[in-house]
Amino acid sequence: MKFFIDTANLSEIQEAQDLGVLDGVTTNPSLMAKEGISGKENVINHYKAICAIVDGDVSAEVISTDYEGMIREGEELAALDEKIVVKIPMIKDGIKALRYFSEKGIKTNCTLIFSAGQALLAAKAGATYVSPFIGRLDDISYDGIQLIEQIRTIFDNYGFDTEILAASVRNPIHILRCAEIGSDVMTGPLSSILALLKHPLTDSGLAKFLEDHAKAEAAAAK
Ligand code: E4P
Repeated sequence: MKFFIDTANLSEIQEAQDLGVLDGVTTNPSLMAKEGISGKENVINHYKAICAIVDGDVSAEVISTDYEGMIREGEELAALDEKIVVKIPMIKDGIKALRYFSEKGIKTNCTLIFSAGQALLAAKAGATYVSPFIGRLDDISYDGIQLIEQIRTIFDNYGFDTEILAASVRNPIHILRCAEIGSDVMTGPLSSILALLKHPLTDSGLAKFLEDHAKAEAAAAK
């Protein structure tokens, strides 16, 4: 399963990249706003800065919600770097835009997916990725993980190339469940990725190893 980080924060992206497990980045307008990025030139420079850090795909979301606007913005974004994946919302004009970009060989990520029907439609339109938001579904008492399972079954039934990008990941259990199901990608915050490191027996085991080593060294030095 590929690991994407869901942030526009350059130092977090660098930290995940330095860890050696990062396969890509997803951003959205809220995450860009959180970093205080506004104005076309700043937005463009920020995407370029992200692309300079990571080796993999970088999702950059269009703001337009009409077909022509999405095509114009998406083409501008795609021209910035070959790593850019144009992120398109799951709306009617978005489906048409997915088809357009697919035919032009431009990678896309269909965002704001909350049902298997939406994922199926995006896959039929040629999306490179679909992003089901599992955390936001869990927040309103729907089972986000069950949605990933349903989409996996549908895509496998028909051999769709579209990759399932489990989004709105909130914790390490989300990551593990996605891996068990066979999600192609997960995107989450750095904290969820780093939480995979943690186990109390690892910490206590390492402390004991170091303690025993120090004792043996001290005894040998006598
Ligand atoms: C997906 O690409 C979105 O950026 C993201 O995962 C949304 O997550 P949130 O529900 O934590 O805002």
